[in-house]
Amino acid sequence: MKKTWWKESVIYQIYPRSFADSNGDGIGDLNGITSKLDYLKNLGIDVIWLSPVYKSPNDDNGYDISDYEDIMDEFGTMEDFDEMLSEAHARGIKIVMDLVVNHTSDEHKWFLESRSSGDNPKRDYYFWREGRDGKEPNNWGSWFSGSAWKYDETTDMYYLHLFSPKQPDLNWDNPAVRKEVFDMMTRWCEKGIDGFRMDVISLISKPEGLPDAPLMNELYGDCGCTANGAHVHEYIQEMNRKVLSKYDLLTVGETACVTLEEAKKYANSEGTELNMVFQFEHVGLDGGEQFKWSTRKMPLVPLKENLTKWQKGLDGVAWNSLFFCNHDQPRIVNRLGDPSDELRETSAKCIATCLHMMQGTPYVYQGEELGMVNYPFRSVKDFNDLESINAYYELTEKMGWKPSEIFPGIACKSRDNARTPMQWDDSPNAGFTTGKPWLAVNPNYVKINAAEQVIREDSVYNYYRKLIELRHTYDIIVYGHYELQLAEDPELFVYTRELDGQKLLVVCNFSDHEREFMPDEEFRDGKVLIRNLDNNNILDGILEPYEAYVIYAE
Ligand code: GLC
Ligand code: CA
Repeated sequence: MKKTWWKESVIYQIYPRSFADSNGDGIGDLNGITSKLDYLKNLGIDVIWLSPVYKSPNDDNGYDISDYEDIMDEFGTMEDFDEMLSEAHARGIKIVMDLVVNHTSDEHKWFLESRSSGDNPKRDYYFWREGRDGKEPNNWGSWFSGSAWKYDETTDMYYLHLFSPKQPDLNWDNPAVRKEVFDMMTRWCEKGIDGFRMDVISLISKPEGLPDAPLMNELYGDCGCTANGAHVHEYIQEMNRKVLSKYDLLTVGETACVTLEEAKKYANSEGTELNMVFQFEHVGLDGGEQFKWSTRKMPLVPLKENLTKWQKGLDGVAWNSLFFCNHDQPRIVNRLGDPSDELRETSAKCIATCLHMMQGTPYVYQGEELGMVNYPFRSVKDFNDLESINAYYELTEKMGWKPSEIFPGIACKSRDNARTPMQWDDSPNAGFTTGKPWLAVNPNYVKINAAEQVIREDSVYNYYRKLIELRHTYDIIVYGHYELQLAEDPELFVYTRELDGQKLLVVCNFSDHEREFMPDEEFRDGKVLIRNLDNNNILDGILEPYEAYVIYAE
């Protein structure tokens, strides 16, 4: 397997609005990020993935961009950006930008022109269609509830928005759109950024003729039908030829609805498209009858089966992203671990061990390295995220669910769980801001915060630090082949890695009780690389609740 820096890196995702506020307006900003670079350097990460910082009316917190080449007012200026970039580079940290080009904001100048008349030169930058029998042109539902079409009076036509009505979809079949996007990307590369995380890039090639989709619920068709469209690989290859191949970048495609076969194309090791895919099958496993809005725990056997499929399926032919958390996912300790005082830290470390010892590039989402947990939401009024709010009203008002049936699921899965401010210390507002935070701080910050964890040797933070250091030390952690053990065990996640005669055994007890487990002969006098408990002997064959360890043998 070819060795490259982006395979050996650990990425840290920053959601700027919630990371650090430098000027007391309650909103995180670029200078806030710059002020925390030493914290990240100490953690040992190589790359920052910066969620969008471009000009935006913030209907979807920056994922609705009105100017790709300017900075959002609340976040600062282009000078602040340049300073952050050079300060990061000075510390050996790379910056990967979020590239949101499936759609723009409806306030982007391209859309303002496109909307203005049927024969505007930019009309065909977006999807405009006549209504069908006085209704939407097809049955597609938006990812954020309701129809994916919005009627526009100016020309008596509808436009397509797979996300919010303030996020109209760009028409990638139009070569002029592709050129605009590629030129804009080139200008960012010339500025010296280190890569792109490509938002919902699997959705850019819409099915020809925009046909109805299979019904996803009683109301709307499944807009997942737009994923992996006929021309998506052609467009990404063109982007690769015209932009990506000219620079040494890290590129990751957020690929909703990607299959293993498709992933092998997006992240092919010939390098004609992207470096890696970021896929969601494993974080969809705790959904249920109420779609993703369920309070079910993540079931371990299907999780093992799924992660194993991706580990083995891409080995040698493509490259995985390893993640449990991002700005769209609730906190993983609640989903897979135990948020109680007794087990929160142990289970957070167990989860981290399980993920960070796999093949792929690991992602740490801000606060994950502290074992941050979900927010105790009490009412729909506590939410800021449009996905959660829309889902609540659609499910209760249009689909007839009782609020008491659906609220717990929405509270449990809401993206706002990941978006509460970063918990820096135990001062008011967790040291995130001196003003009023845009989204409430989790009241547990007095207990869970960075200042306390950075100096405590056995903290979750220092455990992540060690995991990252191990990946930088042992090739086998980056490149080794993966093999699952005990596939049917509903509580133990055990796997091995192997590379040129070296071996790794990874053992994680995902239960809140003791389990028996004895490592195989070949590992018994191996070297323990890391463990989350140290008050017992591994070779006594007993695993404590959420115990995890890694043994290296050669
Ligand atoms: C991606 C982003 C998400 C955003 C959506 C629309 O899934 O991660 O936050 O809402 O795309 O841009
Ligand atoms: Ca601010």
